Amino acid sequence: MSDPVVYLNGEFMPLAEAKIPVLDRGFIFGDGIYEVIPVYAKRLFRLDEHLDRLDNSLGATRIPNPYPESEWKKILSQIVMESETEDQSIYLQITRGVAKRDHAFPEKIVPTVFMMSNPLIVTSEEMFNQGVAAITLDDIRWQYCNIKAITLLPNILLRQTAIDEGAQEAILIRGDEVTEGSASNIFIVIDGIIKTPPKSGRLLPGVTRDLIVELAKNNGLKWVEANLSRTELEAADEIWLTSSTKEIMPIVKLNNDVVGNGKPGSITRQMYQIFQTYKAELKCDVTD
Ligand code: PDD
Repeated sequence: MSDPVVYLNGEFMPLAEAKIPVLDRGFIFGDGIYEVIPVYAKRLFRLDEHLDRLDNSLGATRIPNPYPESEWKKILSQIVMESETEDQSIYLQITRGVAKRDHAFPEKIVPTVFMMSNPLIVTSEEMFNQGVAAITLDDIRWQYCNIKAITLLPNILLRQTAIDEGAQEAILIRGDEVTEGSASNIFIVIDGIIKTPPKSGRLLPGVTRDLIVELAKNNGLKWVEANLSRTELEAADEIWLTSSTKEIMPIVKLNNDVVGNGKPGSITRQMYQIFQTYKAELKCDVTD
């Protein structure tokens, strides 16, 4: 496999040639934000939604948006076309830039922009049918989880704890409020109704999450956005997690308990089918 082409500060180059100075504030402070955009059959999926969230993350961190929307679309489509695979995961990162180390923002600083494409490996049908295990952990993160910040140490520690305990993902609980997974949003089904927590600073507004809500609405499924307690989570008939790289991942074991009958439930399956149909029909061109 040839070295993948990446984008760094205005230039396309092989990954091995992409270098940044050690004083980049992304390296020194984790002072930056990112996006992960899925690509199906070389088409960027939900691109406008990802660019909107990117702009929100930049605004919240007071990093100027380096490019207008049209330029983002041009560069992203070039990265997609340069890559060999049909289905890709585009990683896009912007840091505040390079400067002498000081917590305060430097006066004149140019953001660092980096992008790369990797093959997209979503939840296979086989894995979907099996489902995975999750554990609950205290949400130890900060109060601005709506910002897609590269500062991910808490998420990394939480995810690793889940893996160390033989689970795939950590479901996070702040006080008595279930927020999301360490790298995913959460949905449960209780008494035939799909439930997901509302958007707030306690969770990332997932692009997949929003799409699932939209599809539930358009397909006449019963759904509600409301705070989710630990008791409700534990009593749920079905649980699934969503993200741009996982799509829909059923949770069939929570801590030491089996969820439902230990197989993905009927509403989870229905949602999965609706999502797959939507994906297959989608004509999302970067030039639209
Ligand atoms: N993470 N919540 C968190 C904390 C996440 O990190 C992610 C995604 C999501 C789901 O968002 P979306 O549906 O827009 O992918 C929710 C990406 C995939 C990552 O960090 O690799």
